Amino acid sequence: MLKQTLLKATEAGAAVIKQFFEGEFKISNKEGVNNLVTEADHAAEKTIFKVIRESFPGHYILSEESGEIIQESSYKWIIDPIDGTVNFANNIPICAVSIGLEYEGKIIMGAVYNPIMKEFFFAEKGNGATLNNKEIFVSLKTEVATSCLVTGFPYTYLDAPNGPLQVFDRLIRKGVPVRRLGSAALDLCWVAAGRFDGFYEHKLNAWDSAAGYLIVEEAGGKVTDLKGNIYNPYQPGIIATNGKIHEELIKWVNGEV
Ligand code: IPD
Ligand code: CA
Ligand code: CA
Ligand code: CA
Repeated sequence: MLKQTLLKATEAGAAVIKQFFEGEFKISNKEGVNNLVTEADHAAEKTIFKVIRESFPGHYILSEESGEIIQESSYKWIIDPIDGTVNFANNIPICAVSIGLEYEGKIIMGAVYNPIMKEFFFAEKGNGATLNNKEIFVSLKTEVATSCLVTGFPYTYLDAPNGPLQVFDRLIRKGVPVRRLGSAALDLCWVAAGRFDGFYEHKLNAWDSAAGYLIVEEAGGKVTDLKGNIYNPYQPGIIATNGKIHEELIKWVNGEV
């Protein structure tokens, strides 16, 4: 029932964003001119809530645009109705619905669906990770020098020591390819699928990473904070890799190489 609801909610939200993507929609600013939210973010969120609440009216919900519906429950649904809103608003097909399900403080299931590229990523704790129902695995690279990485940049905090620009500068000057897709949830899934060898980002929210975290781990990868401590969705920094370059990437990110 939990899995069915997760899949149904993700599909329903994705159908909404696909429909808006192909048509017209209103775009507004949050703080700052480029921190956007669209009509589609709100509409998808509403649809996702409806599906979850039909089956589980007593569960806790945390979602980017509406905040929290706090309830006494061991279950928490962590929702990003559109991850990659700036891409979405510019008609760039790299955006997705991301929903993670937490039980007693642990993420037990995650779904990330990009309906434009028709890619549905899913993982359940202990059961592996899939892309469109086919099992996926992380890459086999063993060193950062030959890896292809991905990152994202926050709206603030760019210039901090070992912050986003310093780390990017360090890697780029060494010739390491570092891409920027604009959707943290998909960055994580693309690590899980072996397209990227590693991903790091300094400032994410739980709704950006909760589902993708489990998808990476279940595909055989590793996810920690920027220092190598155990992943916590409520802490901002993240490193996700194929596992084999993890310790080395932590050093790069912390200026120890
Ligand atoms: C953003 C994306 C982006 C990341 C930002 C997030 P949104 O989410 O995941 O890749 O760099 O930090 O806020 O706003 O498109 O849901
Ligand atoms: Ca997001
Ligand atoms: Ca979002
Ligand atoms: Ca946002």
